[in-house]
Amino acid sequence: MKHSYREMPESMKGTFAEYSKAFGFSWKEFVMTVPSPLFLVTTYKPNGQPNACMQSWATFTSANFGNGFYAILASVNRNGHLWQSLNARREAVINFMSAETYDACMATIRNNRYDQDEITASGLTAVPAEWVDAPMVEECFMNLECRYAWEREIAPGDDHVLVCLEVIGAHIDDAHLADKTGAQGLLYNIHHPLNPENVGRTAHDYAAILEKKIDAGEY
Ligand SMILES: Cc1cc2nc3c(=O)[nH]c(=O)nc-3n(C[C@H](O)[C@H](O)[C@H](O)COP(=O)(O)O)c2cc1C
Repeated sequence: MKHSYREMPESMKGTFAEYSKAFGFSWKEFVMTVPSPLFLVTTYKPNGQPNACMQSWATFTSANFGNGFYAILASVNRNGHLWQSLNARREAVINFMSAETYDACMATIRNNRYDQDEITASGLTAVPAEWVDAPMVEECFMNLECRYAWEREIAPGDDHVLVCLEVIGAHIDDAHLADKTGAQGLLYNIHHPLNPENVGRTAHDYAAILEKKIDAGEY
């Protein structure tokens, strides 16, 4: 049996799903749950200090007739350091972390002072990127060096914007090259999944890994 949802179910009223609208989240996100890759975007702030910003709500695509590979950061907060530094310096690194490095990457959210090196303060190692003017995180298994391409508002006047970055090149660990799924693969953000037919007082966020399920063919 399928359940249909168009308006917020009564069962979700008074829960995080309702009041999180104040932080910019639609209740649909928690019912429809579409996991997205989780990564840390690193830049230099206008004052030269390394910045680190956890991001999800993102995807990657080839474009320009196969001539380019692009990151679409679908929801960048205009009031954050990432947006500010991207607009000032126009270069960034996207760092993918394993479960072991997750806690340190999350610590960058607490270590978020403008005058702070957010990478070092979180117990991670900042190294200069090779092709762009941005720091990258040594402990992350894959670092994508990127250039700002453009940004758009999804809805007019929104406080978050969609940012397109062109991926210039990558640094990738041996283990991830050998197997891009499982423990060596990307983490996915599963944001507060809720079942409206059985809503608890609280729910969890999860970080997931991918498992190969179907061999879709050799070509
Ligand atoms: C799992 C996770 C995913 C996040 N994804 C985003 C995102 O896609 N866009 C965003 O603006 N903030 C996102 N955030 C919040 C920022 O990481 C957080 O506000 C950060 O401190 C902002 O850093 P900044 O001021 O250095 O840019 C996310 C946080 C977590 C924990």
